[in-house]
Amino acid sequence: MQPASSNGFLSLLLIFSFPIFSTAENRKVGKFSSSSAEFPRTQVETIIRELNLFPELNVNIVENEPADPEPNLVEKHFRFPNFSDSGATLQKLGHHAGYFRLPHSRSARMFYFFFESRNNRTTDPVVVWLTGGPGCSGSLALFYENGPFHLADNLSLIWNDFSWDKVSNLIYVDQPMGTGFSYSSSRGDIRGSTEAAGIDFYDFLQAFFRRHPQYAKNEFYITGESYAGHYIPAFSLRIQRANKNEKSTYINIKGLVIGNGMINPEIQYKAHADYALQMKLINQSYYNGLSNSVSLCQKLVKLCGKNGSLTCPLASRFRNSVFAGILRQAGDINYYDIRKRCEGPLCYDFSNVEKFLNQESVKKAVGVRDIKFVSCSSVVHNAMTRDLMKNYGVHIPALLQEGLKLFIYAGEYDLICNWLGNLRWLTAMKWSGQKNFQSAPSIPFVVDGLNAGLTKRHGRLTFLKVHNAGHMVPMDQPKVSLEMLRRWMRGQPL
Ligand SMILES: *[C@@H]1O[C@H](CO)[C@@H](O)[C@H](O)[C@H]1NC(C)=O
Ligand SMILES: *[C@@H]1O[C@H](CO)[C@@H](O)[C@H](O)[C@H]1NC(C)=O
Ligand SMILES: *[C@@H]1O[C@H](CO)[C@@H](O)[C@H](O)[C@H]1NC(C)=O
Ligand SMILES: *[C@@H]1O[C@H](CO)[C@@H](O)[C@H](O)[C@H]1NC(C)=O
Ligand SMILES: *[C@@H]1O[C@H](CO)[C@@H](O)[C@H](O)[C@H]1NC(C)=O
Repeated sequence: MQPASSNGFLSLLLIFSFPIFSTAENRKVGKFSSSSAEFPRTQVETIIRELNLFPELNVNIVENEPADPEPNLVEKHFRFPNFSDSGATLQKLGHHAGYFRLPHSRSARMFYFFFESRNNRTTDPVVVWLTGGPGCSGSLALFYENGPFHLADNLSLIWNDFSWDKVSNLIYVDQPMGTGFSYSSSRGDIRGSTEAAGIDFYDFLQAFFRRHPQYAKNEFYITGESYAGHYIPAFSLRIQRANKNEKSTYINIKGLVIGNGMINPEIQYKAHADYALQMKLINQSYYNGLSNSVSLCQKLVKLCGKNGSLTCPLASRFRNSVFAGILRQAGDINYYDIRKRCEGPLCYDFSNVEKFLNQESVKKAVGVRDIKFVSCSSVVHNAMTRDLMKNYGVHIPALLQEGLKLFIYAGEYDLICNWLGNLRWLTAMKWSGQKNFQSAPSIPFVVDGLNAGLTKRHGRLTFLKVHNAGHMVPMDQPKVSLEMLRRWMRGQPL
């Protein structure tokens, strides 16, 4: 297998990747460097450029921040300056942005947005959205997927009629620490695992519900995409365990939603080749040629996931070369959406979110000091390297058993976290309903009389393959994505 080309294969936005290809690159990646990067120097940086993102810094470390021993939450009721709907008062909008001083850190502060529901604030569930990467900001999803506003080319804000705040009180968190507007004065606060990030996330939820006690009784759901397939099961487990402790505020968690997630790498990496064959991105003889690498990769991933041993870099190497091989055969396809091509160096253009959030007027409105918005942090990403290969599906049977519901959906044209791999790990998962889930029929998911997907369900477990969508389902199918969330949260069949 040839080494990976510089053309992207590992997605950052919402995915996982691993920048080991040459020892030269290795050396650069190992160190934190906070200087701005004019040219991409690592694989991860290349991937960020493919999204047309140019964060000036590769992580938000603010020097000379006094260590503040008191955990506290500072929140602003705000209105975006570039939003011109004069009928919408501050009160009516119910938009908040804040910082929470993370207690289990030296000096980290976690940034979040909170949008009260446009439907019924009193009764609608509280939904938190987590973007993947690892290392990408929640604001990417806010403005390009399921948030209340979309950005026009002139940076004015337009209501998104299919935002998830139409059915929920919606929170976006910039996590793990160092991404988006979250920052610290200490590099020691960079998180090296999903478990470590989960401690911060749980602390944040406690502070959030103390600040907004009227929402603590509402149903609570954790949702997200891509690498959030790692976060969501682990964070949910953390909440469930802590809920048994009387001293903490009870979090009324009811379920988990993972869109085009990376949950079980051992199974999902193999599905790259199988999906590529099925979609005719590669032919049978090429597929056969990959099979040794694929099965070796699976074995290495398994070992790596078990104890984070030396097999991890090797597993990544095999995975990368398989993926790069598929892309070479497939041409310059966009691996988040195989119907599309990457135009020149760009697979998507998300640059407006950086332009928008870095405006002084916007930062002032949402209470951000003189720091830059780090759309995707390569430092946060690289620090999670050992976490990538772990299978977080292992937590799910216990969560189902304890009464939580799980909704796994996947846009059918995504290659990197494709529906096939997702359905496979779900099917292979051992839980009390396994046999019944396996034999459950596939049923059309109908929205406005149109066939919007195929769903399979048993008990608390629901799977949906979404038609005409890639990796970012709420961006590609806004109305469908809102409808699936609404029906699922209400406990209706999709
Ligand atoms: C929200 O729902 C509650 C309970 O059904 C109802 O009493 C209240 O009037 C609703 N509020 C709005 C703004 O519709
Ligand atoms: C910005 O663009 C939006 C949407 O295209 C348009 O409605 C609005 O009038 C424009 N605003 C300005 C100030 O140009
Ligand atoms: C957005 O805000 C900036 C800075 O306040 C301003 O220069 C620009 O004209 C605004 N654009 C729109 C469309 O409101
Ligand atoms: C399969 O694809 C490879 C690589 O593009 C090509 O060399 C080979 O001829 C193809 N085989 C068949 C049977 O089409
Ligand atoms: C990790 O796994 C490798 C391979 O199975 C094994 O040799 C090693 O002893 C394990 N290390 C720990 C700490 O369990």
